[in-house]
Amino acid sequence: MKDFIAGLPKCELHLHIEGTLEPSLKLELAERHGIALPYDGPDAIRAAYRFDSLPSFLRIYYEGMDVLRTEPDFYDLGTAYLRKAADQNVRYAEIFFDPQAHTSRGVPFATVIDGLHRALLDGERLLGVRSQLIMCFLRDRPAGEAMDTLLASLPHQDRIAGVGLDSDEKGNPPAKFAAVFERARREGYLLTMHCDVDQDDATEHIRQAIHDIGVDRIDHGVNALEDPALIAAIKDRGLGLTVCPISNGYVTGSTKSTQIRRMLDLGLRVTINSDDPAYFMGYVAENLAVVADELELTKEDLVLLQRNAFEITWLPRDVKDGYLAELD
Ligand code: HPA
Ligand code: ZN
Repeated sequence: MKDFIAGLPKCELHLHIEGTLEPSLKLELAERHGIALPYDGPDAIRAAYRFDSLPSFLRIYYEGMDVLRTEPDFYDLGTAYLRKAADQNVRYAEIFFDPQAHTSRGVPFATVIDGLHRALLDGERLLGVRSQLIMCFLRDRPAGEAMDTLLASLPHQDRIAGVGLDSDEKGNPPAKFAAVFERARREGYLLTMHCDVDQDDATEHIRQAIHDIGVDRIDHGVNALEDPALIAAIKDRGLGLTVCPISNGYVTGSTKSTQIRRMLDLGLRVTINSDDPAYFMGYVAENLAVVADELELTKEDLVLLQRNAFEITWLPRDVKDGYLAELD
């Protein structure tokens, strides 16, 4: 099944570009900027990756970003990911970035988007991997700061497909950002949001995301299975769910394979993604392999997961159809 997964044309829809910062690039960027890291090599960096919850992961994730400072840094980060994507036969990716994690350290918004966008252009031209950016707001910071970020993004809107919401969910429900997402929609952005797995008030957060915010997609959203009304709403609206099994394993102790099986059986548009692969040590192929193994998936199941993914992309219909035809 590994070979089948390797050859399958794939789509990645839940990937934080800052979560693709591999230890080797971290060391290279630290050297570029004369930053003394307290690690003598990639293995030492990895050995410090100890997390068993979303907050314990996020602490390490934000700490790691300090080496990202200039436009070429963001270009190199994006390019390193897209090379990996090309190696795994990822044909198309929608890529989250967290501008507030950089602007709060004094890195200008334009530096971040210029570097990432240049990487995306070269990724398509040189590697044949098409991609788009999704800008995420940090939900554990004030809504006013998210609104400022939204306004700062408008001059760059032609390079951003939509907006999302990530970081620590505890006490930070979708409703906190209702005005920000309403404005984003009015400005023409598509909307998605993390509804992380097994959070407090998880089903209420999913309800708000669907009914109060009107999202176009849900990131994770596994707990929707606990409420038949949410399942019905997701089905009626054709909403996609971007599930990340290896990430789930780290932050909740379970890959949630059983729930993925149930989503497939219910005919929901569930997809398999990698979240923060440099930290969770699995890109999309490894995530698919874990689920294929745990659920004894057939080739048809794996093709369906990719069909779901291409179907819920934020691409024009004719482009989607082109990718879907590759799966026939
Ligand atoms: N969950 C929430 N926020 C995040 C994550 C995640 O897995 N990765 C990066 N920001
Ligand atoms: Zn995520």
